[in-house]
Amino acid sequence: MNIAILGCGTVGSGTVKLLMKNEKEYTAKAGEPIVIKKLLERHPEKAAALGVPAETIVSSFDEIMADDSIETVVELIGGKTSAYEYTKQCLRAGRNVVTANKDMLAEYLGELTALAHANHAMLMYEASVGGAIPVIGPVSRSLAASSISRIYGILNGTTNYILTRMAADGIPYGEALRDSQKLGYAEADPTNDVRGYDSARKLAVLASLVFGVSVHMADIEIQGIEDVSAQDMLDASAGGKTIKLLADACMENGRLRASVKPVSLPLEHPLASVNDCFNAVCFIGDACGEIMLYGRGAGSLPTASAVVGDIIEICRRRHDVVPENPLWK
Ligand code: HSE
Repeated sequence: MNIAILGCGTVGSGTVKLLMKNEKEYTAKAGEPIVIKKLLERHPEKAAALGVPAETIVSSFDEIMADDSIETVVELIGGKTSAYEYTKQCLRAGRNVVTANKDMLAEYLGELTALAHANHAMLMYEASVGGAIPVIGPVSRSLAASSISRIYGILNGTTNYILTRMAADGIPYGEALRDSQKLGYAEADPTNDVRGYDSARKLAVLASLVFGVSVHMADIEIQGIEDVSAQDMLDASAGGKTIKLLADACMENGRLRASVKPVSLPLEHPLASVNDCFNAVCFIGDACGEIMLYGRGAGSLPTASAVVGDIIEICRRRHDVVPENPLWK
């Protein structure tokens, strides 16, 4: 399958690296080679440094739309402006889209899903929530038999890293934030992380999918971690607790209640031991009971892992005959 990748930033470069390094394995799993036909990047040197041939790197989205052999477009630009326009153009043209873009999906998931259906295209977004953790797939397929009444968890790696460092090392918020930026966990503008907006966007995507209603940022009560002090952390610890930024959504009498805010959790709570940039998502369903999914919620290769998983899944669905595990052939 020929693909185009839009953007060669943190997740884009991770995706290129994985596709180049594991070409043979992915071909077997997908049932066909996955070929990067075009890569859209304003700074071609970034893509060239990864070994992408010069003729593959383009500076205009029109060049991608003009190439009819490209069936799947991998949107890793982020944001809600050009990414949203490009995604709509691709879906309208019947091209599949894989995206990690929670900003766009938190606002337009319903519209884009309808557009994909109307044009017989696939819209895949596993990487938009929880980085490497499979969340969207399990919720859509494996948990489809359960009616989910509550989703809660830790959905932001940067803030979890900051709170972990504050709790473990007793360092102030500002120092922990700087360390998280050095490690590449924070968004380009860390405001989105520390004010809780990033968690809220992921919660909006998940809640929309699980509860079948359009959930937007305005529906979520949001409080970030900027006001959590070293003293707050000491007080929590003295009481056998720790502070986590908890995203929580449930349906009560047909009405959504959703929030993102710092909460004190007893140390024996399973989420209290989710540390560093790790995320965890819990679901409560009528048949499945309580489920907790845990893993790396941020970073280049973990997020790219979810992106490539979606690309492989599209190949499998196109063929409809590829076994789940190619070793069974
Ligand atoms: N800045 C985000 C986080 C990256 O820290 O979780 C993944 O969305």
